[in-house]
Amino acid sequence: MDNTGENLKTAFAGESQASRRYLFFAEKAEKESYKSIARLFRAAAEAETVHARNHLGAIGGIGTTEGNLGIAIEGEHYEFMQMYPGFIDQAETDKNKRAQVSFSYANEVEKVHHALYQEALQTLRAGKQIKDEPYYVCQVCGNTVAGEAPEVCPICGSPRKQFKRVE
Ligand SMILES: [Fe+2]
Ligand SMILES: [Fe+2]
Repeated sequence: MDNTGENLKTAFAGESQASRRYLFFAEKAEKESYKSIARLFRAAAEAETVHARNHLGAIGGIGTTEGNLGIAIEGEHYEFMQMYPGFIDQAETDKNKRAQVSFSYANEVEKVHHALYQEALQTLRAGKQIKDEPYYVCQVCGNTVAGEAPEVCPICGSPRKQFKRVE
């Protein structure tokens, strides 16, 4: 990859982070009753999303759905096989309990994502559509469940009401 390719990767990472960060800042601003500042954060987040999409597109990072599932599977696999296990150990060594919990939740959920993506890829390759059903995402740990929210999250123990429906 040439310098511009590397620059696009860096810019994509930065804009992606900024868009997420601004959405969290918007939530905070809402809680602090700064309604219009919340809106400004959401508008800027939307713009950073446009930039992120443009940058990723320019490096050919958005392929066919079959290819994209492959990339998603690889990414999730790397996270729960290598990245998070190392991070969890380090957090334990550093006695950073909050980081340890955060990494552990993500580590467990990446396994779930990996399985869901693999199933989707197999179904796609068989020329079929995956089941038409909603997903429920635990707002504490990110656990992602197809069809119906469980009574209790099997990863973090949160009650059903913590699950957000995704259409
Ligand atoms: Fe994931
Ligand atoms: Fe959970």
